[in-house]
Amino acid sequence: MLIVGILILSIASFNSCMVVNGKKHTLDVIQYGAKGDGKSDDTQVMGTILGPKRNDWGKECSIMLIHFFNISRLTLEGSGVINGNGEGWWDRALQFDKCNGLKITGLTHINGPGPHIAVTDSNDVTISNIHINTPKESHNTDGIDLTRTNRVNIHDSPISCGDDCIAIKGGSNFTNISQITCGPGVHGISVGSLGGHGAEEYVENLIVKNCTFNGAASAVKIKTWPGGKGHVKNIIFKDIIINQTNFPVYIDQHYMRTPEQDQAIKISKVTFSNIYGTCIGDDAIVLDCAKIGCDNINLNQINITSINPKKPASVKCNYAHGKATNIISPRGNCVTKKQN
Ligand SMILES: *[C@@H]1O[C@H](CO)[C@@H](O)[C@H](O)[C@H]1NC(C)=O
Ligand SMILES: *[C@@H]1O[C@H](CO)[C@@H](O)[C@H](O)[C@H]1NC(C)=O
Ligand SMILES: *[C@@H]1O[C@H](CO)[C@@H](O)[C@H](O)[C@H]1NC(C)=O
Ligand SMILES: *[C@@H]1O[C@H](CO)[C@@H](O)[C@H](O)[C@H]1NC(C)=O
Ligand SMILES: *[C@@H]1O[C@H](CO)[C@@H](O)[C@H](O)[C@H]1NC(C)=O
Ligand SMILES: *[C@@H]1O[C@H](CO)[C@@H](O)[C@H](O)[C@H]1NC(C)=O
Repeated sequence: MLIVGILILSIASFNSCMVVNGKKHTLDVIQYGAKGDGKSDDTQVMGTILGPKRNDWGKECSIMLIHFFNISRLTLEGSGVINGNGEGWWDRALQFDKCNGLKITGLTHINGPGPHIAVTDSNDVTISNIHINTPKESHNTDGIDLTRTNRVNIHDSPISCGDDCIAIKGGSNFTNISQITCGPGVHGISVGSLGGHGAEEYVENLIVKNCTFNGAASAVKIKTWPGGKGHVKNIIFKDIIINQTNFPVYIDQHYMRTPEQDQAIKISKVTFSNIYGTCIGDDAIVLDCAKIGCDNINLNQINITSINPKKPASVKCNYAHGKATNIISPRGNCVTKKQN
């Protein structure tokens, strides 16, 4: 049975968190149609949800603007706007926890102070045709964060924000991302960061294709901390257009310039294919792997040139094993066959 609820909100300020099916909080939008009973829900957001100022907000629930918890087959759609009101005191605007079969489509998210959409512990998620537009000065505002979430499809959405457009974090499996325009902003589509404080984390089966990156510090990236455990495997970045990006193709296993440690997350089977455009720094490709090495790295059909004609784009590798074919620019190849 499909239950259709219409949530029309135009709230200038309210005194409590909005939690759907949460435990301790007060304003419960289940009454607007979202049911936490594992049945289908269809919630429309029209008008504007405007985040309140800090003083208007209950103290005990100051990390998420709206928290959806344990709802199956929730659809959140409409032409609405979620305006985080530029205040930097909560972590994320929309948090979806244990929401299997989640669909988010057609919303515009502006001026959020933290990650706009965070999905954790959910399966079968589709996010499409959303717009995220936050000034890049808003630090640490990721567009979409995925954690321990399987079978995700994110497509056809422009995202500009203050950190990663999309961050694929530990426990993500079978993630498809396509037709995303990322930037202007700070970072692009990143796996990680993973393995902080020695954590054991896994990311597998990610395909990022037909995406454009415009003016950012990085475009497609895998970032891990020295000392972590686990692996990153079966990752494809293909059909990518880069415009004036600092580090377009980047594997960073020494995240935040952390020195090498004995243990590291193992990276293997990563393809960068059909990647075209311009970089603003010297380094078009950086594959800075841990000493245990990245294996099966496949670079194919790449033409990334520097916008500075006097400084040809370069490629740098540490312990990157695999092969490089049809590389027009940067010149040179430092991906090596694995020595056995
Ligand atoms: C989630 O909802 C299902 C169905 O109502 C329920 O059986 C389960 O206990 C809930 N899980 C949590 C963690 O609240
Ligand atoms: C991701 O793409 C692959 C290959 O195109 C397809 O087989 C798979 O079903 C897709 N998964 C999702 C979650 O959309
Ligand atoms: C690639 O994305 C653009 C929009 O970003 C779209 O117009 C085009 O059809 C896509 N191409 C493919 C092959 O999906
Ligand atoms: C992804 O799914 C495959 C197949 O079910 C499984 O073997 C693997 O452990 C999963 N990886 C993660 C990161 O969950
Ligand atoms: C590329 O980036 C530059 C500088 O940010 C910008 O002026 C230009 O419009 C961008 N080009 C495209 C095709 O987006
Ligand atoms: C590589 O990119 C440069 C700069 O955009 C362009 O002039 C050149 O024609 C491209 N080469 C090929 C073979 O596509």
